[in-house]
Amino acid sequence: MLKFIQNFTYTILQIILLPLAILGALYAINKEKIVSKRLDISYTAGQVIQGQWLMHYFKIRKDKNIIKFIKKFPAESHLALYLMFFAAIIANRISGFIPKAIKKDILQEISSYSFLFYRTKKFDQIIEENINKVKQFVIIGAGFDLRSIKFYNKDLKVFELDQKNTQDIKIQTLKEAKIYKKNIKYINCDLNNYKWTDSLITNGFKTYEKTLFLFESVSCYINKPTVENIYRKISNICPKGSLIAQDFYSTNFLHGNEFKRVKNGKRVVENFGEPWDFTIDMTTNPKKEINKLLSKNNLSVIETFICGEKSTKSKNPFYAISLSSV
Ligand SMILES: C[S@@+](CC[C@H](N)C(=O)[O-])C[C@H]1O[C@@H](n2cnc3c(N)ncnc32)[C@H](O)[C@@H]1O
Repeated sequence: MLKFIQNFTYTILQIILLPLAILGALYAINKEKIVSKRLDISYTAGQVIQGQWLMHYFKIRKDKNIIKFIKKFPAESHLALYLMFFAAIIANRISGFIPKAIKKDILQEISSYSFLFYRTKKFDQIIEENINKVKQFVIIGAGFDLRSIKFYNKDLKVFELDQKNTQDIKIQTLKEAKIYKKNIKYINCDLNNYKWTDSLITNGFKTYEKTLFLFESVSCYINKPTVENIYRKISNICPKGSLIAQDFYSTNFLHGNEFKRVKNGKRVVENFGEPWDFTIDMTTNPKKEINKLLSKNNLSVIETFICGEKSTKSKNPFYAISLSSV
């Protein structure tokens, strides 16, 4: 009954507020695309923080900094996001309505939309569980993610790696939003250039300290030799017991025809110069594939979460999150 009332409240509000939602969507989508292109920053990194904005307003993942950040971020519009989701937010305040996709966490039922929210929650959980076991936290391809601030503590050395333009705009936005932390080291790099570990060390990374690396939704933008090189570099520059939290996309998901939403997305990301590349074959035994890849590069899998066996047409999983150690 409660579910019915919640869905009913949302539907009525959405019908009434539809013109505002359309206006918001048109403005947000155009601003994201035009400004990302003009500033030559990662478009895909901007997309990720929209999910975090949404989770904040539904009280699933409270993060005031993401709101402060988006208010000052040139490639996003806080107001437009608000208009887009106004009906859902009011329905939430009136009846407790929460969009299904944001809450979903049964692995087999995670869909090509809900995985965006699941991934943020799962990585948060992995970081929370492991951050106190390490002395350094390195986010590879950090984009506009704010976990370096969320999990910052004075005993932890924190480093973020990303391409120059994306990182420069992030730093500028953090300063404007008054959430910039001078103790976090921002290092610009191209992961295709194998010197990024030298830059880390020059910037104070200690090769004898246990480290947690977050490598979230970045490997799919680089090729397999570079991904494997990153694993080897990690195992060469930090002690045994250091950790990598990362995700994998299936070949069918990013390069196949099964997912219409993804096929459209593929054209968009290519247009932004961020084509998808590295994937894993998940048709037979994804855990085995991941173990094989990581063990070949001196990493041991601790745990892997496989998503989507029930939600896909082919009944194959399409996404995985894995924690491994050096
Ligand atoms: C989809 S975003 C993910 C951002 C962040 N990890 C998150 O989950 O919010 C991909 C990020 O990888 C970065 N990236 C892609 N290729 C890179 C490369 N060759 N060198 C450095 N960063 C790269 C992009 O600039 C972008 O910030």
